[in-house]
Amino acid sequence: MAQVFDRSSNALARASLVLTGLIVIALGVALNSLQRSPWVTRQGQRPDQPVPFSHKHHVEGLGLQCQYCHTSVEKSSYAGIPPTKTCMNCHSQIWTNAQLLEPVRQSWATGESIQWIKVHDLPDYVYFNHEIHVNKGIGCSSCHGRVDEMPLMYQENTLQMEWCLNCHRNPGVNLRPTSQIYNMAWTGPSTDKPVWCTATVNTDGTSVPTAQGVNCVMKDPNAAGGNNVAQNEMPAVGASHAPGMTTAPMPVAVLPVNYVKFTGQNDLGKYLTAQYHIRTANELSSCEVCHR
Ligand code: HEC
Ligand code: HEC
Ligand code: HEC
Ligand code: HEC
Ligand code: HEC
Repeated sequence: MAQVFDRSSNALARASLVLTGLIVIALGVALNSLQRSPWVTRQGQRPDQPVPFSHKHHVEGLGLQCQYCHTSVEKSSYAGIPPTKTCMNCHSQIWTNAQLLEPVRQSWATGESIQWIKVHDLPDYVYFNHEIHVNKGIGCSSCHGRVDEMPLMYQENTLQMEWCLNCHRNPGVNLRPTSQIYNMAWTGPSTDKPVWCTATVNTDGTSVPTAQGVNCVMKDPNAAGGNNVAQNEMPAVGASHAPGMTTAPMPVAVLPVNYVKFTGQNDLGKYLTAQYHIRTANELSSCEVCHR
C-alpha cells in the first residue's frame, strides 16, 4: 500500500492520540470527583428547615433520647420523624410565644404536618433497613456522626455505595454492644476503658444466635462486690434443664458467667461478629443484599 502520510504527520497523529487520551482521563477524573463531591452527595449541607430544630439543645442540653422522637428505629426500616404532637408535649408550655416555633403552633392548629426537608435520602432502588443495623450492634453515630453536637442536622457520610460496602466488607471495626447503640460518644474499648462481655449459652453448648444474647459491661464484673454483674446478668437459660439433670426440681442454679475482657476494638469486633452471627463479607457485598 502506498504511503499516504509522511513521518511527521505520523508523529502528529500519535501526539493527538495521546492528547485525546489525556483529555478523556482528565474528564473522567473530574466527573468522578464531581460525583463524590459534597455538592452531589449533599454531605455537610444544612437545608433550610421550616423550624431550625437543634439536636444539640434537645439531646445534649435537655438529655432527650433518640427514641423519644425517632420511635420506630429499632423495629422498622424507618427511624421516622416525630409528629408535631411530640414537640407540643413541651412547647405547649415552653417558649409558647417564640417566633421560631410559629410553624409548630401553626401545624398543631391546622393538623397539617410540618414539611421537614429530608437530609438523608437514598435513591428508591436501594434497600435500607434501620432495624437490622441497630439490632446487630451498629450505633447511630457510626452512620450519622455526633448528632448530639449538631445545632442543625447535616449528613455526615456520603451514603454512596462505596461507603456502605466499606463497612459491609469489614463490619467488625464498627460493631458495639447493643446497649451502646445510642451512646453518641462510644469509641470502642481501650486499655484504660476495657469492656467485658458474655454470651448466653444453650444447653447444647451453642450460643444464642441473637445480639440480645450478648451482654457487655463497662465495669470489671469480677471486682469485689461487682454488683453490676447481677444487675446485667441474663437469666440462666436452661440452667435447670441441663442434660442428665431431669430429676427433682432443683434450686434455681445460676450458671457461672464467664466474662471475656476486651481492651481493643479488633478483638471485640471479632467476638461480636461471631456472637451476633454476622454474615461474611462476601455475602454482605453481594448485589441483591441492597438491590432487590
Ligand atoms: C425532640 C425530638 C428529637 C430527638 C430527641 C432526636 N431527634 Fe433526630 N430529628 C428530629 C426532627 C424534628 C428531625 C427533622 C428535622 C431535622 O432534620 O433537623 C430530626 C432529624 C434527624 C435526622 C435526619 C433525618 C433526615 O431528614 O435525614 C437524624 C439522622 C436524626 N434526627 C438522628 C437523631 C439521633 C441519632 C438522635 C439521638 C442522639 C435524635 N435524632 C434525637 C427530632 C428529634
Ligand atoms: C422535652 C421537652 C421538649 C420537646 C419534646 C421539644 N422541645 Fe424544643 N425546646 C425545649 C426547651 C426546654 C427549649 C429551650 C432550650 C434552650 O433554650 O436551651 C427548646 C427550644 C426549642 C427551639 C428554640 C431554639 C433552640 O433550639 O433553642 C426550637 C426551634 C424548638 N425547641 C423546636 C422543637 C421542635 C420542632 C420539637 C419537636 C420535634 C421540639 N422542640 C420538642 C423543650 C422541648
Ligand atoms: C448503618 C447506617 C445507619 C445507622 C446505624 C443508623 N442510620 Fe439512620 N439513616 C441511615 C440512612 C442510610 C438513612 C437514609 C434512609 C433512606 O433515605 O431511605 C437514614 C435515615 C435516618 C432518619 C430519617 C428518617 C428515616 O427513617 O429515613 C432518621 C431520623 C435516622 N436515620 C435516625 C437514626 C437513629 C436515631 C439511629 C440510631 C438508633 C440511626 N438512624 C442509625 C443510616 C443509618
Ligand atoms: C457501619 C457499618 C455499616 C454501614 C455503614 C452499612 N451497613 Fe448495612 N449492615 C451492617 C451490618 C453489621 C449488617 C448485619 C449483617 C448480618 O446480619 O449479617 C448489615 C446488613 C444490611 C442489610 C441486610 C438486611 C437484611 O434484612 O438482610 C442491608 C440491605 C444493608 N445492610 C444495607 C446497607 C446500605 C444500603 C448501606 C448504605 C446506605 C449500609 N447497609 C451501610 C453494617 C453496615
Ligand atoms: C451494601 C449495599 C450495597 C451493595 C451490596 C451493592 N450496592 Fe449498588 N448501590 C448502593 C447504594 C447505597 C447506591 C446509591 C449510591 C448513591 O446514591 O450515590 C448504589 C448504587 C448503585 C448503582 C447506580 C450507579 C451509581 O453508582 O450511583 C449501580 C449500577 C449499582 N449500585 C450496582 C451494584 C452492583 C452491580 C452490586 C453488586 C456487585 C451492588 N450495587 C451492590 C448500595 C449497595
